[in-house]
Amino acid sequence: MKTVILIGALGKMGQAALTGLGNHKVITAGRSGDVDHIVDITNEQSISALYEAVGHFDAVVNTVGFCEYATFAEMTEVQWMTTVMSKMMGQINLVRIGQKYIADSGSFTLVSGILNTKPIPFAIADATTSGAIDTFVKIVSLEMQRNTRINVVNPTVLAEAWDVYGEMMPGFQPVPGTLVGKAFERSVDGFINGEVIFVDA
Ligand SMILES: NC(=O)c1ccc[n+]([C@@H]2O[C@H](COP(=O)([O-])OP(=O)(O)OC[C@H]3O[C@@H](n4cnc5c(N)ncnc54)[C@H](OP(=O)(O)O)[C@@H]3O)[C@@H](O)[C@H]2O)c1
Repeated sequence: MKTVILIGALGKMGQAALTGLGNHKVITAGRSGDVDHIVDITNEQSISALYEAVGHFDAVVNTVGFCEYATFAEMTEVQWMTTVMSKMMGQINLVRIGQKYIADSGSFTLVSGILNTKPIPFAIADATTSGAIDTFVKIVSLEMQRNTRINVVNPTVLAEAWDVYGEMMPGFQPVPGTLVGKAFERSVDGFINGEVIFVDA
């Protein structure tokens, strides 16, 4: 059994990831609500405080990455930076800071999303930062120390989120959260490293 920090545990993707972590001791974290630790992934001190408070852990599974949605013509720099500081730098900082705390042979699993390979209108910032995270994971895996690993789950839309996103995503087939949970499980329990784990229908 591993000790796994699940960030964004109360969100839709967090709940999907949780279905794949049943063999482990899961420590939940998020920005608000009934979680074991409150953390803001856009704040370096908050990330350090989370790792200090947890102490020993074998895996970090992050499912947070806030994105702004607008056309490229209308998206402001503030909206771009909000997305970059959460979905891109927030996740990079979880690894940059976490590498000092995580146990030997531990693993990080990040989240991106299908829109960097199957674009839809209004999702330029989500797609761009998802692409950045997919690239980050592939390349940083070559520099991971102490036998630690890193992967990213790149899912299509969840069935559980279809009521919110379905109208924006004609022609997409949602997948159940349990299938996405398997991808997180493969990252945490497997030996893969530097992989973008696509989950598409
Ligand atoms: N849902 C899908 O079908 C789907 C598919 C592919 C990829 N994704 C990606 O998965 C990620 C999560 O999506 P979701 O659908 O799970 O969203 P969600 O249901 O809105 O959940 C997001 C969770 O993250 C927390 N959070 C937001 N900003 C945070 C921060 N700075 N620090 C810590 N926690 C924070 C939220 O807490 P609060 O409630 O306190 O704000 C909430 O619990 C996004 O990047 C999304 O693009 C989602």
